[in-house]
Amino acid sequence: MSNKNIVWHDHHVSKQERSTIKGQQPCILWFTGLSGSGKSTVANAVETKLLQLQKHTYLLDGDNIRHGLNKGLGFSKEDRIENIRRIGEVAKLFVDAGTIVLTAFIAPFQSNRNWVRKLLKDGEFIEIFVDTPLAICEQRDPKGLYKKARAGEILNFTGIDSPYEVPKNPEIHIVNHDISVENAAQQVMDYLKTKGYLNA
Ligand code: ADX
Repeated sequence: MSNKNIVWHDHHVSKQERSTIKGQQPCILWFTGLSGSGKSTVANAVETKLLQLQKHTYLLDGDNIRHGLNKGLGFSKEDRIENIRRIGEVAKLFVDAGTIVLTAFIAPFQSNRNWVRKLLKDGEFIEIFVDTPLAICEQRDPKGLYKKARAGEILNFTGIDSPYEVPKNPEIHIVNHDISVENAAQQVMDYLKTKGYLNA
């Protein structure tokens, strides 16, 4: 379908104005890692800490988004790319609203993550690699999905018969085993404080 009859409208209120009244620099905290690596857990802990500082946040989470907006998408390479494309576009709108957005998706492909990065301005996309070895994710298996994948009951499971491309140059690298959720979340908070995201 052609877009030629659709015209972009500029808003009267700017992203900067929306951010200033919130006392923050909007950005996306893009958590990526294997299923069971702890993305959602750490993202939830970071969001709680931001709330305590009266910051304005929103968490987009893989499993939940797949129940609504991205219902109907599966786990083929094509569907995963479309999943991340839509999330990237939605997250960008939240950034435009002045919000600190947290996303927790496997997002296994580097080129797909780079595509989202390019949608945003410099400094607005913060890639966070939640680095937990496959063996540990599999041992945790919080949803019992690795067991099913090993039994051949789920196909294209990330880490088993579908690839995960390790982030090449993430802003934050959390080695997420043998550390507490508190420590992992603090690593993200320290980054945000040091780089000035928590001030208008
Ligand atoms: S992504 O690859 O498209 O980014 P997403 O983060 O939305 O994946 O969804 C991953 C979640 O879906 C996993 O945490 C897991 O609970 C569930 N899941 C179901 N099937 C698969 C599969 N084949 N591969 C990976 N995760 C799956």
